[in-house]
Amino acid sequence: MPDAPRQARGAADERPYDLVVRHARVATAGDIFEADIGIRDGRIAALARGLPPGAREIDAAGRWVLPGGVDAHCHLAQKTGDDSVMADDFLSGTRSAACGGTTTVIPFAAQLKGESLVQAVRDYHALADGRACIDYAFHMIVSDATPRVTEEELPALIEQGYTSFKIYMTYDDLKLDDRQILDVLYVARRHGAMTMIHAESSDCIAWLADRMLAEGLDTPPYHALSRPPVAEREATHRAISLAELLDTPILIVHVSGPDAIEQIRWAQTRGLKIYAETCPQYLFLTAADLEGDLLEGARCICSPPPRDHAAQQAVWNGLANGTFQVFSSDHAPFRFEGPGGKKPQGDHTSFNHVPNGIPGLETRLPLLFSEGVLDGRMDINTFVALTSTQPAKLYGLYPRKGTIAIGADADMVIWDTGITRVIRNAELHHNVDYTPYEGRTVRAWPAITLSRGQVVYADGAFHGHSGHGRFLPCERPAPARPRRAAGRHAPWLAALSRMDPIETGSDGTLPGNDAAAGGSA
Ligand code: URP
Ligand code: ZN
Ligand code: ZN
Repeated sequence: MPDAPRQARGAADERPYDLVVRHARVATAGDIFEADIGIRDGRIAALARGLPPGAREIDAAGRWVLPGGVDAHCHLAQKTGDDSVMADDFLSGTRSAACGGTTTVIPFAAQLKGESLVQAVRDYHALADGRACIDYAFHMIVSDATPRVTEEELPALIEQGYTSFKIYMTYDDLKLDDRQILDVLYVARRHGAMTMIHAESSDCIAWLADRMLAEGLDTPPYHALSRPPVAEREATHRAISLAELLDTPILIVHVSGPDAIEQIRWAQTRGLKIYAETCPQYLFLTAADLEGDLLEGARCICSPPPRDHAAQQAVWNGLANGTFQVFSSDHAPFRFEGPGGKKPQGDHTSFNHVPNGIPGLETRLPLLFSEGVLDGRMDINTFVALTSTQPAKLYGLYPRKGTIAIGADADMVIWDTGITRVIRNAELHHNVDYTPYEGRTVRAWPAITLSRGQVVYADGAFHGHSGHGRFLPCERPAPARPRRAAGRHAPWLAALSRMDPIETGSDGTLPGNDAAAGGSA
């Protein structure tokens, strides 16, 4: 095993380390090396063999030590606009994340139609600050792209460190039409933010769903049938086209199968900056999980829906060949039983009234480690890249988060890999009354999770506390920069740039911190 690529200690600080993680077999997105990790003041201060003793020591001999997970797509304490209630707040959600090896979450400050986005962000801070157990940043959800939002609120919020937002092409209470999407992309282009897109075709879905419901076909399997792959493919292609029109990078979230993957791959091959995310439900569930009596299948209702085994294989292929940059949970926690949950009208709830989303914060990393790394579908560096480094880069948190390097926050996971553990909801730390992965066996689980050098999970128990987690303002991510050269091939873009120059630094560079980019996302 090679030594740390840069055997280094922090500059001239003679104080003892607060913690030394000894004999670590470290994997980052680019390297594998063996080192002792010296931690001081919550940051990595040294990576070298034979470090002097720390105030505290953890022996990691024989174990992988990886950067803590960055879950860049999870929903916590998010207002829904109806009677459904998210079961996880910033305490239970971040507790569950830490117990599954995630040390940074990026949930969503959601704007409901008619609301101020600035107020939505302020309200979300009130729910998070002082409550989270691990560090967190915010994406925003833009559902009402008024001139005030696009011209005043978004530019100001981006400047303050809220540098990514999600927009929807489906859901009546959230969706934007194409012109509104262009308005939002234009803000992202000019101010250097990352736009995440939920790509499903609203009209195709509504047309199908209305007919199914009129015929009484209202059980959970019809949720999947009313949201077919072609509806995802059409919206994905349209989102890519809108992004190309404005030469603005986008990230397509929760991609479910080959139809959308082909569109994304096609766009990437044409040189467009189209990024993509997928989630555990598209590797480990299928539409058959929406079947069952007494609305059992409502547990697995999410959008886009899980597909079939061929789609699972296409998603694995996309993870291995670089089509996907991000693997997130899309944790959307609704309880199965009780008020606010999956069955607002009891066992006769029709699929269109079931709140969409499934839990997965705590199981995301163990599932992918087991079936991805240990089963040989991806190497350890790819695992780190997908679950930590690339999300940190794409959302402006790198290199503070997403890697093990001198100066980075001491967020890391010491993994147990020679184990067999059956996933049981009773042993998870979220506030949801089920997991879609009940009974599934994994062969990897965190032994210890460190958040800024503090043990927040060890040997099966949560050791963190509410209020430890800090808010992380995000840089404008370099991967969100438009391609400067695009105007050469697209005269309308050249004209646009003359009319409305992109915000640049004093040296003429585009938004996005090169130091933080650390190469391509
Ligand atoms: O069904 C899902 N994915 N629910 C969560 C909200 C979203 O669209 O990501
Ligand atoms: Zn979505
Ligand atoms: Zn989501």
